[in-house]
Amino acid sequence: MPTTVLVGAQWGDEGKGKITDHLSKAADVVVRYQGGNNAGHTIIVGNERFALTLIPSGVLYPQVTPVIGNGCVIDPAVLVDEMAELDRRGIDPSRLQVSGNAHLIMPYHRKLDAVMERFLGQQQIGTTKRGIGPAYMDKFSRHGIRVQDLFDPKIFHQKLEVALKDKNKILAKVYNSLPMEIEPIAEKYLGYGDQLHDHVTDTSLLLWEAQQQGKNIIFEGAQGTLLDIDHGTYPFVTSSNPTAGGATIGSGIGPKTIDRVVGVAKAYITRVGTGPFPTELNDETGARMVELGGEFGTVTGRRRRCGWLDIVALRYAVRVNGLTELAMTKLDILSHFENLKIAVAYDSLGERFTEFPRQQRVLYNCHPVYEELPGWDVDISEIRSYDDLPKEARRYIEYVENMIGVPVSMIGVGPARDATLIRNP
Ligand code: GDP
Ligand code: IMO
Ligand code: MG
Repeated sequence: MPTTVLVGAQWGDEGKGKITDHLSKAADVVVRYQGGNNAGHTIIVGNERFALTLIPSGVLYPQVTPVIGNGCVIDPAVLVDEMAELDRRGIDPSRLQVSGNAHLIMPYHRKLDAVMERFLGQQQIGTTKRGIGPAYMDKFSRHGIRVQDLFDPKIFHQKLEVALKDKNKILAKVYNSLPMEIEPIAEKYLGYGDQLHDHVTDTSLLLWEAQQQGKNIIFEGAQGTLLDIDHGTYPFVTSSNPTAGGATIGSGIGPKTIDRVVGVAKAYITRVGTGPFPTELNDETGARMVELGGEFGTVTGRRRRCGWLDIVALRYAVRVNGLTELAMTKLDILSHFENLKIAVAYDSLGERFTEFPRQQRVLYNCHPVYEELPGWDVDISEIRSYDDLPKEARRYIEYVENMIGVPVSMIGVGPARDATLIRNP
């Protein structure tokens, strides 16, 4: 049984939750390896809607062991709430396994995220304000507090005291904000520690043993390739590595154990927050995509920016992740457009680019070069077999596949669990 990494191939919200859920039917372990509750993964099961932010989407299947790896940042209040909510809805959260090496999002991280954004003014990133960036800053400056620290009150107090001394100075002197007190934070967090204690384990060892036993493991990426701190549209990115390589670092498995890398992309493209977006549509067509696609954020409710599918960016995602296949979601939304555009190159600063530009100056000045394909004007949301799709829809898929050089193996035609067409190209 294979080890599969599933990654967002665009700017997030590609439908990773739904595709992970689809693959989880046959999975034993599903792992989150980066990010935190900036993610919002929606899964529709019958009349029920689940919006998971931290717990892997695989949790909905009873045979799956859900794992939160060392590369994640965990807001324990959110984790405890998400577990309670699942429990309330009849999903057993007791199987959840959490790495003791994952870092904690502390109240001062959330506060700093908010004030840092406010101080950036026009240059703000448009973060989810969940404290993600400041938590990773502390991890890399080696001032972070980890999940395992929750189980040693003396060490927890010591680390919190050092952290607060520093953060309170920054909050007061740089951001003109009120300082925070140690005791209320310590009391709350040690309480979360009691609730999480039985879930914390050596998740790298757990995954090693699962691989030795031939178990089927899925790594569920959050965010997307273009939000990657190293490979994305920096600085308008998140503070972790959603790309496939992040799965090894963020979980403690070796790269040679990965058999399959599935990219997930919408049939068009969206982005939340600020930053460059070559195919963005600030017109009636973009507004229709928002409306028809229900393009509002799962976490913050913000309106997503929409645009035509960008092959230049998608080929880049194939390259930096080593994708072996692509799942294309929301093809049903394109049924409502007469003609479909696909960006195949960019013109910028007097040059034509077919590879994703690494220079921000080039990216900011991009004008997409479009190919136009005919639409189909038929509702495809009830279709359950690839061959039954209108020929124009198949042509769209096959055009993309030829351009990116990897097969499109799954196609989403609706949000429901069964609205995924499987294809063996
Ligand atoms: P994620 O963050 O990548 O998991 O994606 P989100 O859950 O934030 O956003 C994707 C949205 O599209 C969710 O509301 C899904 O229910 C919905 N969705 C996923 N696949 C499809 C599809 O094929 N068709 C339609 N119409 N909706 C889809
Ligand atoms: P899923 O997993 C879409 C964006 C934010 C902002 C930037 C940095 O649901 O695809 P952060 O709070 O991470 O410091 O914000 O990244 N962002 C996402 N956009 N989907 C997500 O997650 C995102 N997580 C963060 O909007 O532009
Ligand atoms: Mg999302």
